Amino acid sequence: MAKKTIRDERIRGKRALVRVDFNVPLEPQTGAILEDLRIRACLPTIKYLTQRDCKVILCSHLGRPGGKVVESLRLAPIADRLKDLLGHPVVYVKETVGPEVERNLEHLGAGGVMLLENLRFHAEEEKNDSTFAFQLARLCDVFVNDAFATAHRAHASTAGVAAYRPALAGLLMDKELTALGALLGNPTRPFGLLLGGIKVSDKIALLENLLPKIDILLIGGGMAATFLKAKNLGVGYTPVESDRLDFARQLLSRAAQGGVHIEMSRDVLVAYGPPPGADHQKVSVLRIPPGSQIMDIGPRTITTFQQQLHKCSTVLWNGPVGAFEYPAFSVGTRAMAECIANLTSLTGATTVVGGGETTAAVERMGLASKMTHISTGGGATLEFLEGKTLPGVAALQDKRP
Ligand code: 3PG
Repeated sequence: MAKKTIRDERIRGKRALVRVDFNVPLEPQTGAILEDLRIRACLPTIKYLTQRDCKVILCSHLGRPGGKVVESLRLAPIADRLKDLLGHPVVYVKETVGPEVERNLEHLGAGGVMLLENLRFHAEEEKNDSTFAFQLARLCDVFVNDAFATAHRAHASTAGVAAYRPALAGLLMDKELTALGALLGNPTRPFGLLLGGIKVSDKIALLENLLPKIDILLIGGGMAATFLKAKNLGVGYTPVESDRLDFARQLLSRAAQGGVHIEMSRDVLVAYGPPPGADHQKVSVLRIPPGSQIMDIGPRTITTFQQQLHKCSTVLWNGPVGAFEYPAFSVGTRAMAECIANLTSLTGATTVVGGGETTAAVERMGLASKMTHISTGGGATLEFLEGKTLPGVAALQDKRP
């Protein structure tokens, strides 16, 4: 059932505890924020609440500090970035719960924004401890969950707190549930799934859930090696998941029986040593040299994948098709990103991108705004698309029809 959102309730003037996912990548040496999609994605909810004179109390985790204070994982840099993006002061409190937080909250004016310290500095957060959840809940009149990317965790700030206060979806949460839910519900056909990334094992549950719904399956990235091997082709020293060969064979035959059109790499770029310096060349998948490793899809595969994508009314893309972090092996992923980004304007197709690496690639290429939906989740997006119930979503109030 659909979940109640902040638009469905009278929220004016309330104290709103907003769980966000500001778990953004940081530069290891300097701690600088490398990419801020998750912060930008929460701005609509924060603005909606401040415009209605709410006191907005933001809480997030950052990294995995394991229940103790880790100086490099404090949220101070996030507060600074948020202040810039919001164009509005943000009060950063170096505590997560307790008297210091409550004092700051008393002084926060209507429409004010406050950011609490990293939730995971408290071991109670990940244990979904009810006392910790209540300490969070007592700060607010209403709990708003905008952290779709953490909704697969049953933690105090995602699930536990909902026992004590009305729990509503934020605008980002609602957008994610609507866009991803539509893929599972009644997607406009033909529905194409472009899969990449390294491991087949990470995608098994996704494939199982989506296979009955899709018309076209395109397989690239490192995981294609396992499928090529399953078809008795040589893949050089590209890592193969030997324990997944049977799954790959069964999937190919089930897809064929179900009328799903499958395309795999026809040609690939292989490297003869570690990137970025190693020699590389384009080869057919029928002749991958033993001393080489697959690094990207080749030009023939790019054209075939593009032709298939142009047939789709709905496209879901999860996983880069090559080692896009190296310019020499980013051509395939860039071509897929550009093709999918142009589909909406060319054919009116719905285009959804999910998974941390894929999202990062699309962001880096400046194509995010051309997609119908860019999911902010990594594990949460996968689990949702696998058909699992996410605890952070289950805890939200249902919208009555
Ligand atoms: C993520 O980055 O996927 C979320 O922020 C959840 O983080 P976690 O895997 O550390 O729970």
